[in-house]
Amino acid sequence: MCGIVGYVGVKQAAPILLDGLQKLEYRGYDSAGIAVRDAQAEHIEVVKAKGRLKNLMDMTDAGRAVRGSCGIGHTRWATHGEPSTLNAHPHYSREKRVVVVHNGIIENYQELRAKLTRKGYAFETQTDTETVALLLDCYYAEAAEKGLSPRERALFAIRNMMIRVRGSYALGILFGDQPGALYAARKDSPLIVGRCDGELRGHMIASDVPAVLNYTRSVVYIDNLEIACLTQDELRLYNVDCEEIEKPFTEIKWDAAAAEKGGYEHFMMKEISEQPRAVRDTLSPRIHEEEDGSRSVDLSELGLTDDDLRAVSRVTLIGCGSAYHVGVVGRAVIERLSRVPCEVDLASEFRYRDPMLEENALVIVISQSGETADSLAALRLCKERGVRTLAIVNVVGSSIAREADATLYTWAGPEISVATTKAYSTQLAALYLLAVKLSSVRGTLDAAREQQLLADMLALPDQIEQILADKERVQWFANKMSACRDVFFIGRGLDYAISLEGSLKLKEISYIHSEAYAAGELKHGTISLIEDGVLVVALATQPDLFEKVVSNMVEVRSRGAYLFGLTLCGQYAIEDAANFTVYVPRTDPLFATSLAVIPLQLLAYYISCARGLDVDKPRNLAKSVTVE
Ligand code: AGP
Repeated sequence: MCGIVGYVGVKQAAPILLDGLQKLEYRGYDSAGIAVRDAQAEHIEVVKAKGRLKNLMDMTDAGRAVRGSCGIGHTRWATHGEPSTLNAHPHYSREKRVVVVHNGIIENYQELRAKLTRKGYAFETQTDTETVALLLDCYYAEAAEKGLSPRERALFAIRNMMIRVRGSYALGILFGDQPGALYAARKDSPLIVGRCDGELRGHMIASDVPAVLNYTRSVVYIDNLEIACLTQDELRLYNVDCEEIEKPFTEIKWDAAAAEKGGYEHFMMKEISEQPRAVRDTLSPRIHEEEDGSRSVDLSELGLTDDDLRAVSRVTLIGCGSAYHVGVVGRAVIERLSRVPCEVDLASEFRYRDPMLEENALVIVISQSGETADSLAALRLCKERGVRTLAIVNVVGSSIAREADATLYTWAGPEISVATTKAYSTQLAALYLLAVKLSSVRGTLDAAREQQLLADMLALPDQIEQILADKERVQWFANKMSACRDVFFIGRGLDYAISLEGSLKLKEISYIHSEAYAAGELKHGTISLIEDGVLVVALATQPDLFEKVVSNMVEVRSRGAYLFGLTLCGQYAIEDAANFTVYVPRTDPLFATSLAVIPLQLLAYYISCARGLDVDKPRNLAKSVTVE
């Protein structure tokens, strides 16, 4: 996610903006910029730099070289458009009449670009944010013709933008003809306003509390479709109807370290909690609703025609660790829906087995970081063989993203914790989109089934939210089992794929030995390890395999195992075999992974906490394995 900060007050703004952006560096970024207005100057001054914030600090002599007491700043985590100085924020309209910093995703930016182009606007960048700047400029100019006051013009422009834009945003906005005023608006992306007293007298905006803690602990949390107008001595808040509203100030009690995690104890829990937003951001912009209410998947960003997709003869999914586990799920979903033969392989195995690759194969490389050495090497091998490659990646501009023929980005935002959670969930979402698109163009999906699948996909974020609302129940069980020494995760079909991820999560952050096993395979040897007290986590989300998994549970329970059963709401028969049960909301069995994985992430997290371990930085592990 990007970070935004703003200040208007008695002090010079640039040093405060840069300091605030430094406090947001933990969010991950690839470029940064500030815009400052000096009342004596004719224009707003904008300075941007690719790379680390230090580059911007060096360019502006730590902000001392940029005069003015009103400004906005931004650290960019690229989603639309490569990391570059040009694509860095702030973005602005001609003559810098409107200057904007943005955190979020504008889903209908292409449509708005076309509308503004028809109106004579020219675009300089590849970003969705520039669209907001020019749209505000367009409405601001329209308001000026109506003879409205500066404040009224700003509210008119922001309100109309809010009505026209689809997506998520936290915006910091400067209008060139209002030197002492700073505006902000919010929908779905976090935004706070701070009140600074004493020698710092003024007001601030920020994406997150750490950016303001050096200047104030008195903040207002802006809610969706609310607008803030700030000057040195005044804060005014409005709703989307431009009616003034009152909101209480909150005194922040957090220290800076806690604040970086949004009040969560660990980045991992913060990122587990961000999954509803991350999955929604990855799915919604790619599922279009037609006039008649029907939906369809739009993956035009891949640059693959329907004929290209129809010609695909085989799909090979490649990844490491959790990315590989996503591939195991993807193989089942793509094959089940599109009837295209699929295989999945560990990147570190694939690259050394001299793979057989068909001319019309599609190789999908899955990677959060986009820098994993084995996955990058596997991608390069496929390109040497002339096979079409598609990357599912979270980091824009990463090596795998740049070298693949096409990239389907997950919009999870930066993932700090070594154990992946939100990136895993958004990779699943990306594969669901691909599976439905492939099936739709190949005619293996009837219209009713396609609509049901898309409706179930769009319901996933709220269902994940529901599961998270009951996380204390998993916490209770985790504390009870935190001393266990051997854990088995078992399941059949997709439940086996989910078991793989549940087992890895537990191993990597709790250091407890664990194995994932196809439930039908236990009796071929491993069941000899089952004895009194061994914890077995049984996944039973697949209706057609439910009874078989329950009988496997009975087998291991009769040998002393302690059973954690995980299934869909309504499958109460599992309680005949389980000692402890978690139910997740009902969804299409093909998407059950997205829900069942949440309690498993929580189980691993809480056991690691109970064991007093470093959840975010587990021993021996790195966030991105860029060496073989
Ligand atoms: C998952 O929690 C681990 N951090 C690890 O298995 C990870 O998924 C693997 O190293 C692949 O990383 P990538 O997605 O960045 O390629």
